Amino acid sequence: MKILILHGPNLNMLGIRDEKHYGLQTLDEINSQLTAIAKESNIKVAFFQSNHEGALIDYLQENAGGADGILINPGALTHYGYSLRDALSDTKLPIIEVHLSNIENREEFRKTDVLLDIVIEKVTGLKEKSYTLGFEKLIKHIQKI
Ligand code: DQA
Repeated sequence: MKILILHGPNLNMLGIRDEKHYGLQTLDEINSQLTAIAKESNIKVAFFQSNHEGALIDYLQENAGGADGILINPGALTHYGYSLRDALSDTKLPIIEVHLSNIENREEFRKTDVLLDIVIEKVTGLKEKSYTLGFEKLIKHIQKI
């Protein structure tokens, strides 16, 4: 099993972003935790972060073919990234969306989620635990298919 783990704009800055919403862990620390879970479960993972919607789309088009699922934190693209939505949907892979913060409980614009109907589940508001929980849920889902 191979899972693509994508991080959208500004997530490379974790560790120095607003602690109240995003916690203190860096992206490398989060990726290390996911790598540890992947090793335990004998799963391959590939990580990609970009601040550019087109780069995320290019990555999906080039790599989804060899993958079984996608874990993604799209950052602010969640709220308006229609081309990313289309690229994700075109992969036809099971997708879980994660957010460190509780996007339902912040500014009004964060309540719009253009990925909502193409993901199998969304995990929000648990800081870095959103990633680990979302990853475990995705593995279980793929194992059941
Ligand atoms: C985020 C929430 C988004 O609204 C925000 O733009 C981010 C991070 C989260 O993980 O909570 O950059 O996706």
